[in-house]
Amino acid sequence: MSYDIKKILEKEEFSREDLIRLLSADEKERKLIYAKAAETKAEHVGKKVYYRGLIEFSNICGKNCYYCGIRRDNRNIRRYNLGDREILKAVEFAYNNRYASVVLQSGEIENKGFTDRIESLLKEIKRISNNELGITLSLGEQTGDVYQRWFDAGAHRYLLRIESSSPELYAKIHPDDNSHNFNRRLECLRTLKNIGYQTGTGIMVGLPYQTPEDIAGDILFMTDFEIDMVGLGPYIEHRDTPMFKPGNLLMPPAERFHLALKTIALLRIIMKDINIAAATALQAIDPMGREKALMVGANVIMPNITPGKYRDSYKLYENKPCTDEEAEDCSSCLEARIHMAGDEIGYGEWGDSKHFFRRNQK
Ligand code: 5AD
Ligand code: SF4
Ligand code: FES
Repeated sequence: MSYDIKKILEKEEFSREDLIRLLSADEKERKLIYAKAAETKAEHVGKKVYYRGLIEFSNICGKNCYYCGIRRDNRNIRRYNLGDREILKAVEFAYNNRYASVVLQSGEIENKGFTDRIESLLKEIKRISNNELGITLSLGEQTGDVYQRWFDAGAHRYLLRIESSSPELYAKIHPDDNSHNFNRRLECLRTLKNIGYQTGTGIMVGLPYQTPEDIAGDILFMTDFEIDMVGLGPYIEHRDTPMFKPGNLLMPPAERFHLALKTIALLRIIMKDINIAAATALQAIDPMGREKALMVGANVIMPNITPGKYRDSYKLYENKPCTDEEAEDCSSCLEARIHMAGDEIGYGEWGDSKHFFRRNQK
């Protein structure tokens, strides 16, 4: 019955029950959600897709998240840490190709040496790009002092996925110890926002034990928190992790994929002017995954600009695309893909979250 889906989509605000109903939309019904999301995107953010050149500069991680392929206890990978020269070369690629922003991402490390290194890299990135490159960090949980130092050194966006806003589900997918604490994650998000970062979060969709109620809760969490940016994708099992259990309670990949797309579409409909990334994990399930996300509301893409030889070692999940490619390959490939989705690329533009400016004018 698509009748009730249509009725719900006409509302100004969705209740928790509405969201649960929308998230369980079937193949025919979900088209209505996607159409509404496309309409909202056209009206509020337009056709431009903004690039954030992603540098996965190290897969060394101090944490042990049960789902992640680069978790500390996985001995089955080669650990790497790019030198500053290699990182700055990737930065130059982004700058010369008018990507306008870069993202520095790595496993989670908290110590003084790491803090200092990032601080000086940030200053160097600003220097070599005449202050023109925007910088997003995705370096996990840190103290307020560290976040502040990095902000002062030139970072202005930060991505920290909440993974799940349900403390119970969060506890199921992380070890039960001090370094995997739901409340700290929440606190970090608050601190980032207070410092003045454009703050991004996200979840994994299709996790074992996760219900539509959980995802509805995640959407409400992101709305209440007034998040500026979202990056979310399907959960994809990795064989070298504790969560990999053949024949377990996982929904089929195609279902996880559409559940992720529905979540993106709903966030666009509800939050209208935030930035939403078309996550690479979508493409691990569907070859056209990122383009499909653009068509239902996403407006940011993070082309991988990590030097090719390291890419295979930054596998958070299996089937990760673009691991045999170099930055140049992804650049021309993505351009064609984005045009196919009917969008254009905002070369040379930061494309900041409009939501961020609106919430700071209040
Ligand atoms: N499947 C999908 N996403 C994953 N991430 C980590 N492991 C997986 C996985 N197996 C995501 C987490 C993390 C981000 C960097 O990658 O959401 O925040
Ligand atoms: Fe480390 Fe992040 Fe993977 Fe957790 S999800 S193990 S913090 S890289
Ligand atoms: Fe990397 Fe297509 S985007 S090869």
